[in-house]
Order: sequence, then structure tokens, then C-alpha cells
Amino acid sequence: MSIVYLNGEFLPKDEAKISPDDRGFLLADGVYEVTPFYEGVPFCLDRHLARLEQGLAWMRIRQPVDGLEEVQRRLIAENGLEGAETSLAYVQITRGAAPRTHYFPTDPVKATVYAYAKAWDRPSPERWSRGFSVATVPDRRWSRVDVKTICLLPNVLAFQDAIEAGADDALLVRDGVAIEGAHMNFWGVFDGVLVTHPTTNHILSGITRGIVLDLAAADGIPLEQRPIQVEELGGAEELFFTGTTGEVRPCVRVDDAAVGDGGVGPITRRLSELFRAEVEAAKAEAGAPVA
Ligand code: PDD
Repeated sequence: MSIVYLNGEFLPKDEAKISPDDRGFLLADGVYEVTPFYEGVPFCLDRHLARLEQGLAWMRIRQPVDGLEEVQRRLIAENGLEGAETSLAYVQITRGAAPRTHYFPTDPVKATVYAYAKAWDRPSPERWSRGFSVATVPDRRWSRVDVKTICLLPNVLAFQDAIEAGADDALLVRDGVAIEGAHMNFWGVFDGVLVTHPTTNHILSGITRGIVLDLAAADGIPLEQRPIQVEELGGAEELFFTGTTGEVRPCVRVDDAAVGDGGVGPITRRLSELFRAEVEAAKAEAGAPVA
């Protein structure tokens, strides 16, 4: 039985009880964050907490994020994940429990703070090297997906459509633009230039995306932040995704068409190596065993 955190308490998951009046349950009125841990060492925790804090401020949920670093570290420890190669901590904060209204509760209520930790699996090197496929799916999300709200229904439906189409992931398309995946940011290489969507209200500004942008710039890879048209995808040399549990994930097929020569390209490989080196550096800095 895993140990979870709910409103100040660490307890077995089956003892964690949330009110049916919780506005997260009734209205998706909340935000969340997913932070990766590598052998128990959090990776870019400060950036994840900063994004959570910004989301809370935008939602006008008055809940400080102080103490959440300790909560996440303790969940990793309590669930025996300190030795896990790859694990994560999930934190969700909702506006709290109150009789259902389409406006904020008139009497102040305490936010609900829930967190858990679990292991996740990286694909084997062989599986990664074969690359992954995507199906294009209309992006039916609202216009503030830069805020990491728990309102993920359009992402769920898109991902399910992609799976039913036989693909590994979804690629969300809005007004002819390949925006991002259902849970990862999207990148392409065109004429040797690395391209990703600019940080607007139409993408989630991924922490992994930010790291990969810095790594690419430092490595001298030509870089452009601009929308990628679906029409361009046929001429892409490489495509890939980035995200907390996807890291750098090659995409070798879009719908029925192979990307480039159908294999994982050199820039994707290079950025994946650089990203993994960054993780190892963070582990070494924290005194964890280096892989
Ligand atoms: N997903 N875009 C979307 C729509 C996402 O949901 C995510 C993260 C990302 C990548 O962000 P980051 O690099 O900060 O993980 C991009 C999380 C992991 C999830 O929903 O589980």
C-alpha cells in the first residue's frame, strides 16, 4: 500500500478520503505538478514548484507551496523510491470542498493538497531507438493551457483517439499548427534548424522543454521558436517530444508517413544524451550514485 499525502498528513492511500464536494472532483478547479526524481534526487524541483506557484496565483487559490519540497522528498522515501532509477512526485491542489457553485466559495475554504509518488519506466535503449509513432488529433483544449490545470479531458480524449488509431502518442493540431503532444512538448528539425512552438497560451511551457532549449543553445544547434505547420511535417528531418516522463522521445512516424529516413535522427540523439548528462550531473551534485 503506497503512502500518500493529504492535507498535512502522510497516510496509506486507502485511508485518504476526499469530500465529494471537492471542487477538483466536481469542477476540475485545481492545478497539478509532476516532478521527476532520479535515484531519489529531484530534478529541477525549484522550476516545478515555481510553475505550480504561478498556476495557483493565476487561479487565485491562496495556498503557499512552502513545505511541498519536503512533502515530495518524504513521499519518495516513504514509498521506497530512493533507489528507483526513475520515479516522480505528483502534487495536486484544488480550491477545496464547498457546495457546488460556478463561482468561488463565498465562505473561505481550505485548499485540498494531495500528493503521491510512484516509479515510472524509461523505454529500453532498443525500444527508444526504434522511435515512436503519433496520430494527429484536433487540439480541443481551451486557450489557457499554459496553466497546468487538472482539466485534462481534451488531452485524455486525444490520447485515446491516438491509441485507437494504433499510434503511441497524440499530436495536437490547432488551426493547421502542430502544437504539442497530449502530455509532452513537440519539436522538429527542418533544414538543420531545431524548431519548437514559442511559449504562448497554447502550449504548456514544459520544464523539460526549457532545459532542452538551453542545452541546444549551449551546444550550438541552430534554434528557432515558431509554430510548426502540419503541412511542413512531411519535410521534417527529425521530430521528437520532451516531457517529464518522456524525457527526449523520438517520433519517427506521423499518421501513415515516416519522418525523414524513418529512424531516430542525430539531433534527437544528441539532445537525449545531453539531457541524460544533465540528469547525471544533478545526481552527482546531490551525492547520489552516478549511472
Ligand atoms: N505533462 N505539455 C503538456 C500538455 C503536458 O501535460 C506536459 C507535462 C508537458 C511537458 O512538461 P514538463 O516537461 O514540465 O513535464 C507539455 C505531465 C508530466 C503530466 O501530465 O503527467
